[in-house]
Amino acid sequence: MAVGFAVLLTVGCGQGPQAQFSVRDTTEELLSPAQKAVKKALDDGFGTPHELVAWQRLPVNYGGVHGAVGEVLADGKGITAKWEGDAAGVTAGAPLLWISGARAAESTSVDSVGSFDAKTKTLTWSGAAEPAPAAGDKLVIGFGQTLKTGRMVYMKNCMHCHGVAGDGAGPTAKYLNPLPRDYRSGVFKFTSTLTPEKPTRDDLTRVVKYGIPGTYMPSFLWLGGKETESVVEYVRWLSMRGEFEKRLDDDLSGDFSQKAIEESAEKALAEFKAAKADEKPEKPRSAGDLKKEAVAKFTNETDGYEKTEFPGVIDDTANFLAQGWTHGEDPESLILPSVPRVPDDAASRERGRRMYLSDKGKCYTCHGIQGRGDGAATEDFWKKPGSDEVYERRGLHDAWGHPLMPRNLTLGQYRGGRRPLDVFRRIYAGIKGTPMPGFGRTALKDEEIWDVVNFVMSLQYQSAPAPAKPAEHVAESK
Ligand code: HEC
Ligand code: HEC
Repeated sequence: MAVGFAVLLTVGCGQGPQAQFSVRDTTEELLSPAQKAVKKALDDGFGTPHELVAWQRLPVNYGGVHGAVGEVLADGKGITAKWEGDAAGVTAGAPLLWISGARAAESTSVDSVGSFDAKTKTLTWSGAAEPAPAAGDKLVIGFGQTLKTGRMVYMKNCMHCHGVAGDGAGPTAKYLNPLPRDYRSGVFKFTSTLTPEKPTRDDLTRVVKYGIPGTYMPSFLWLGGKETESVVEYVRWLSMRGEFEKRLDDDLSGDFSQKAIEESAEKALAEFKAAKADEKPEKPRSAGDLKKEAVAKFTNETDGYEKTEFPGVIDDTANFLAQGWTHGEDPESLILPSVPRVPDDAASRERGRRMYLSDKGKCYTCHGIQGRGDGAATEDFWKKPGSDEVYERRGLHDAWGHPLMPRNLTLGQYRGGRRPLDVFRRIYAGIKGTPMPGFGRTALKDEEIWDVVNFVMSLQYQSAPAPAKPAEHVAESK
């Protein structure tokens, strides 16, 4: 059986608010058949808050006890099973899912555990005897338990800030600065991984356990281990769902967005009106006509986009996400300094200070000469990425379009963790989704980054940092 099938997990009512997953504005702006196609792809792959779908193609640990058939009993009505972990969840009545073999291929067979004898490891199932499983067939008991638990923990503790769909727009969100993370872009700030890698489970677990100091992201140390693990899995899943939608929209909005069609029709009409009488081009077509044409192009029975291209786009997007999240977890994505921490002495801090003020580091342009987070970059008007427009407000912005101050380094507050290794990683790879750039592999050698770490981490102990001018170093280095 193809690994790619999806399993419906009914969450059940009476588990707190049953709100719907919201959709992005960019989905709402699509022509109606394109919008329907995106929503269907989301429902097929992820379901609704009432009925989550576990799409096996994604690298999500949906949960359950995984095992394989050892032997098939002589009467053909039971097996001995080999479990990958603790078999505690294998109890009579638990849902049993066959992942490979003849029973799995029979898509109508939904079984549950009939009986299980922990001593002899003998398992029977309720449901038809045929087709019979064979030795080596894979099965899961209680599939989806982790995702379901994760959802419950999330709805109770996270939803009011991060929103049902993980859009960062829960009911309390608008009063907070910085805003709760919108997971749907697939970008996380405080990771131990290189750019553009996804965070590891450990990164997300750290954030959930200890919170993000200096922000409203609280610490959830009081959650049990299983609950923390489950909610982290649920956040990864929400992020995959959101990025899946975003990427489908990106693919469709060029040709099939109402808004884009209206804008281009308006522009053509304005050009037509502005043209001199003797140079009049042909009258442009109305937005209505263009929309009709686009709808036909999308829905055509034989060669419409929905039939010919869209299934491939869904497939590629799922692959892309699966690879990204799997690669994030790969040890080669982890930032590990090539040299141990340079001893934290006066000489190292002084080298770090010079680097901080140098043209290689340029830290001062954002963080200020004295590290107070008030560098010249906070005074400028910046352009929005990929456009010529400038933000209305002075200063830096994050990838979500919100104003963002560089950190005041004299406070000694580190949002991504306060171990020297954490600060090393921030400087090496930057902070994803923010203007804080990475310096590793390019501008600074690992030894130099350690010097900067030693300097930066000493700033909180200086009541009045010695004034220094960038010119001082520039002049010396000539
Ligand atoms: C009171 C509001 C609030 C609640 C409740 C809350 N968060 Fe957050 N969360 C935030 C804010 C604010 C940020 C962004 C901080 C920043 O950008 O520095 C954030 C960021 C995050 C991040 C992103 C970390 C990164 O590296 O980008 C994750 C993951 C996260 N929260 C998970 C959770 C989970 C899981 C829960 C529930 C167990 C939760 N949050 C509950 C406010 C909240
Ligand atoms: C273009 C502006 C810019 C430059 C240049 C820059 N930073 Fe940052 N830095 C930021 C911003 C913005 C943040 C806050 C990001 C956030 O938390 O959302 C930040 C955050 C930090 C943090 C806090 C990390 C944490 O865990 O809270 C440290 C440490 C830091 N920068 C060090 C440096 C050093 C050292 C340099 C030079 C090698 C540097 N920065 C260069 C903009 C910049």
